Amino acid sequence: MAKPVARFVCRSCGAVTPKWAGRCETCGEWNTVEEEAIVARPGPAAKAPAGRSVAFVGLGGSAEPPPRTPIGIVELDRVLGGGLVPASAVLVGGDPGIGKSTLLLQAAACLARSGRRVLYVSGEESVDQIRLRARRLGVADSSIELAAAINVRDIVASLEQAKDTTLVVIDSIQTMWTDTIESAPGTVTQVRASSFELIRLAKAGNFALVLVGHVTKDGGLAGPRVLEHMVDAVLYFEGDRGHQFRILRAVKNRFGATDEIGVFEMTEAGLAEVPNPSALFLAERRGNIAGSAVFAGLEGSRPVLMEVQALLAPNPAGSPRRSVIGWDSGRLSMLLAVLETRAGVRLNQTDVYLNIAGGLRVTEPAADLAVAAAIASAAFETPTSPGMVYFGEVGLSGEVRQVAQAEARLKEAAKLGFDSAALPRRVAHGNRKLSAPEGLRLEEIGHIADLVARFAPESAKKNA
Ligand code: TYD
Ligand code: MG
Repeated sequence: MAKPVARFVCRSCGAVTPKWAGRCETCGEWNTVEEEAIVARPGPAAKAPAGRSVAFVGLGGSAEPPPRTPIGIVELDRVLGGGLVPASAVLVGGDPGIGKSTLLLQAAACLARSGRRVLYVSGEESVDQIRLRARRLGVADSSIELAAAINVRDIVASLEQAKDTTLVVIDSIQTMWTDTIESAPGTVTQVRASSFELIRLAKAGNFALVLVGHVTKDGGLAGPRVLEHMVDAVLYFEGDRGHQFRILRAVKNRFGATDEIGVFEMTEAGLAEVPNPSALFLAERRGNIAGSAVFAGLEGSRPVLMEVQALLAPNPAGSPRRSVIGWDSGRLSMLLAVLETRAGVRLNQTDVYLNIAGGLRVTEPAADLAVAAAIASAAFETPTSPGMVYFGEVGLSGEVRQVAQAEARLKEAAKLGFDSAALPRRVAHGNRKLSAPEGLRLEEIGHIADLVARFAPESAKKNA
């Protein structure tokens, strides 16, 4: 028998090293390296059974799309790519307290209502606590089968007997514990070993497995990357706890598109679907205030309008502050430099605060033009026109560049009653015309200086 050897895994990036270190050499995080006991394989000298040969096939054979079981919550089904796939594993990650258990209990209840068998295993809450929550959510009459358990061996034994199950929820994977490995629940080794067992069972039992995973404060799932590649889909549930909106985002999906989002609102009676997020994100917008612009954004395949707010405050002494919520701060610095150099907007003695209203986080470069409009509007104390949306990427020389899906963005704007859009100039490539919805005026902006000139024609000319 070979001697067990130890190896070390980084909780943050999953890198494996032969020796312990206070700081991970791969990702540079401190105190994330932990020991993982592994048993050495018998060497080649030991007699191992011969493997069976694997049949290789061609690519052209028939391939059916995976069968789907819609859960019945439209926002969730969209993010999953149409519903649950049998024998698949989904990881739902998010900050503690964001609403993962609430969402999954509601999903489980909804599926159970359509006559499916659903098991819910909680390692965090007692059965009584879950019953109380179910009452609050109005699903106490649902036929979900509940269990409070953390031992994977027990769970596996119970699931092997549970026939015809459609969905098993494990809340959360960090509380699960398998006795074949000597480390505490929540460690990389335990999370990986427990998940492996449960996923294997899902494939064998042909049910969909949903693992709940808590995210650590720096944004990774504890024991994270090691899990992401083991599952078929990774969904993140995010939002600002001060706001009631929650966004479910697919970051990996073997059976559907990533970047799809589902929008929910946390209410007294659980999560409510938000079929029209634009209206919600714009609900509190006040017209006629300088420093606000509406961005026609895209979340996955879905156009979403949101408000970009900029506030400028003079700071004649010392280094000015730049503070961003919901957008990338590096991108803001770049845009401020472009505004200053290419359009003559002086901001070097000004604090800049930028906020995407409603707690959304924007990653698209297409937001550049809206951010620039909000800043220019604040700088010259001129409100943007209330019926206008903005989208376009801004390059380093100040040029405004094309972005994807202009038509979908314009359609959403028209649907919400906007009457005009500021967008990149359409370069003459191809002869396909942009079909704008009727009644929507298009204003093409070729350069950031043209945008700035809309807010302060005189001073822009003077400074540029
Ligand atoms: P929870 O689902 O327990 O979060 P997680 O599983 O991600 O840790 O949600 C907890 C929060 O949601 C809690 O602060 C209370 C709030 N909540 C509501 O506002 N309404 C509800 O109906 C429920 C069940 C929870
Ligand atoms: Mg929970």
